[in-house]
Amino acid sequence: MNFQLTEEQLAVQEAARDFTQSVLLPGVIERDRDMTFPKEQIEQLGELGFLGMMTDPQYGGGGMDALSYAIAMEEFSKIDASSSVCVSVCNSLVNYGLEKFGTEDQKQKYLVPIASGKKIGAFCLSEPEAGSDATSQQTTAEDKGDHYLLNGTKNWITNGNSASYYIVIAQTDKEKGHRGINALIVEKGMEGFVVGAKEDKMGIRASDTHTLLFNDVKVPKTNRIGEDGFGFKFAMKTLEGGRIGIAAQALGIAQGAYELALAYSKERKAFGKEISKHQAIQFKLADMATNIEAARQLVYRAAWLKDQGMDFGEASAMAKLYASKVAMETTVEAVQIHGGYGYVKEYHVERLMRDAKITQIYEGTSEVQKIVISRSVLKD
Ligand code: CAA
Repeated sequence: MNFQLTEEQLAVQEAARDFTQSVLLPGVIERDRDMTFPKEQIEQLGELGFLGMMTDPQYGGGGMDALSYAIAMEEFSKIDASSSVCVSVCNSLVNYGLEKFGTEDQKQKYLVPIASGKKIGAFCLSEPEAGSDATSQQTTAEDKGDHYLLNGTKNWITNGNSASYYIVIAQTDKEKGHRGINALIVEKGMEGFVVGAKEDKMGIRASDTHTLLFNDVKVPKTNRIGEDGFGFKFAMKTLEGGRIGIAAQALGIAQGAYELALAYSKERKAFGKEISKHQAIQFKLADMATNIEAARQLVYRAAWLKDQGMDFGEASAMAKLYASKVAMETTVEAVQIHGGYGYVKEYHVERLMRDAKITQIYEGTSEVQKIVISRSVLKD
């Protein structure tokens, strides 16, 4: 087994690390406080190719492997998970879905602008009454011959207002259950498509999360991804890769909080010495470091399996389940090590703690990951 990163992967890591310090860190506290979408930061990420890392260069992407993508996600998320979730949705939900299952026309029209960093995409599956239970889609896409008539509401959509193109999952034939669901590409500005309220969230507050409303939106049939009824499987296949991105995000949040706590423990003195010289703190740091490394191995393994063209659905669910748990535990401990300073915004760890929680919820809750894993281990 080779645990060493390649020259290219190390270069991606360094570039992402530099970008995080020079572009994402300045103003991150204010953007979180004011819920300001990091527009300029995302534009720069797009110019540098980070919104289309894995997409084939013929469609405007960087043609990199999934491991490089996970490495970049980890770096961005050490300080700014609000920006990294935009990177994740564009790369692993929208671009991957379009590249793997879209038609050539769809790729030219929608994938190229997103992968080349000129536009942003969104993935719309969750509904007021269909979160984990994704087969219970209430949004309808009525077949009208040459187009679908789209009606319904989508909730908690990342990039909800900033996106130009939206992949919307909707029910065409209720009788057919999950086989009656379609995935449609909707453009911002289509008549009847309204971007609704922005969510005032606990964490990733600068990320642009909205309710979307569809009222008799005419979507051309040419905007359907895959065969009629493929929408649910499309969503499931796409989310397998998405979970690598969110697992890497959780890993980065944990690593970022750990690094802050480690540095702080060497500066802060209590009872006559640096707190890092107290065993109570040393044991916390040892646990954090060990858990983070275990999470990293799961994340990298899932990315590696994807890069080998092997099944990675179980591995990505395991990586997300574990890394998000580690993110939550590590950030809580990082706040504890900081004491009173950890509870104020200036020291970053309270934000990381709030950001960590979403990694246990979106792209499938921890309970959904356990469903995926248990079905996999129990199958004949
Ligand atoms: N690949 C291909 N096909 C799959 C699949 C996969 N990974 N998983 C399921 N399927 C297929 C099954 O084989 C089955 O097809 P057949 O009947 O032909 O065999 C069909 O899909 C239905 O599968 P299930 O019976 O397993 O479906 P289920 O209703 O029991 O649900 C679930 C399973 C795992 C809970 C699923 O509903 C799920 O993943 N829910 C969570 C959804 C989710 O992650 N939402 C997040 C929203 S996106 C987001 O958060 C983005 C963002 O903004 C950051």
